[in-house]
Amino acid sequence: MQKVYKVGVIGATGMVGQRFLTLLDGHPLFRPVALAASARSAGKTYERAVGEKWAMTVPIPAYAKDMVLLDAEADKEKIASLVDFVFCAVNMKKEDIRALEEAYARLEVPVVSNNSAHRGTPDVPMVIPEINSAHLSVIPAQRKRLGTTRGFIAVKSNCSLQSYVPLLHPLMQYGIKCAAVTTYQAISGAGKTFATMPEIVDNIIPYIGGEEQKSEEEPLKIWGSVENGAIVPAKAPAITSQCLRVPVSDGHTAAVFVSFEKKPSKEDILSAWKNYAGEPQALALPSAPKQFIHYFEEDDRPQAKLDRMTENGMAVCAGRLREDVLFDYKFVGLSHNTLRGAAGGAVLLAELLAAKGYFD
Ligand SMILES: NC(=O)c1ccc[n+]([C@@H]2O[C@H](COP(=O)([O-])OP(=O)(O)OC[C@H]3O[C@@H](n4cnc5c(N)ncnc54)[C@H](OP(=O)(O)O)[C@@H]3O)[C@@H](O)[C@H]2O)c1
Repeated sequence: MQKVYKVGVIGATGMVGQRFLTLLDGHPLFRPVALAASARSAGKTYERAVGEKWAMTVPIPAYAKDMVLLDAEADKEKIASLVDFVFCAVNMKKEDIRALEEAYARLEVPVVSNNSAHRGTPDVPMVIPEINSAHLSVIPAQRKRLGTTRGFIAVKSNCSLQSYVPLLHPLMQYGIKCAAVTTYQAISGAGKTFATMPEIVDNIIPYIGGEEQKSEEEPLKIWGSVENGAIVPAKAPAITSQCLRVPVSDGHTAAVFVSFEKKPSKEDILSAWKNYAGEPQALALPSAPKQFIHYFEEDDRPQAKLDRMTENGMAVCAGRLREDVLFDYKFVGLSHNTLRGAAGGAVLLAELLAAKGYFD
């Protein structure tokens, strides 16, 4: 019989935390046994603590409603005694998140994180499971640094990347020289709804703090190599980006321009996208999309509202591939930012870690 792992969700009341709770409802491998948030929520039932902040289109899962929230900081030891691993998605200062995640790891709890605090740590793998699952091999070195036998931290990358890095990756064989990307990012990426972010209605906000740096630097770690227990970021390709907040509830869109060392044909690109699959597909992990990249032939697709839920929000969509006058090609990408880009990507990463024995 397949092992079922006991899971804690740290930041369970947040936008990403709510997604975790819905994705874990009936999950074949993971059973939520501990929910935690800030001291403000601790001691309350989940339903009471989340209150009006519940932003999912489905009701709060029945299993979670009456669970009493724990304090992510003060109840660390208790949570560690209950779980096999935790998901973490909290809104705190970067240094506090770094300390919190390391504290759980040192309590021998694997941490699968949505936060950016450890994305730059050289021995912390930052994984898009279809692309760089090989980076999990740094975990023994990280455990050595932390002095743990089970505990470690693995992170997923920023949500903006998921709408273009999966589309550039299958084209690396043609030597990507450079790419220019503009992202059009949904308000759920800021933990907001239209009710809590009324200033976005009829508007575009041309600034998302820190997002452009992440969008340009994180792909280089994803494409990096493991050397002596650390991930050494790739030196190329150069990526330049602009990140805009747009009045969309869910789904980040990217407009991408790209040039190659060896320019492929349009058919080469379409075929590379169609045939690309990674370890999640080979292992048939429960949350893996069957087809990682979906290409839309229609001129007006992919659209956030119509296409973000492709393969339960776990596929990456592409469209409008054509030659460009300045770069070699341009195209449009789309991914669901709180599913593939956040909680869904983390659940898939946890499924990969479980399949490879990192939670045993
Ligand atoms: N939204 C996205 O699409 C997305 C995508 C990728 C990554 N992320 C990252 O995921 C993390 C969470 O994002 P979010 O959008 O879910 O944020 P959010 O909706 O603001 O939720 C934040 C969560 O953090 C908890 N929290 C705040 N202060 C805390 C403390 N001192 N101790 C323990 N818990 C505390 C909150 O609990 P209370 O309810 O008790 O305050 C809540 O559960 C962030 O690091 C974000 O950058 C988000």
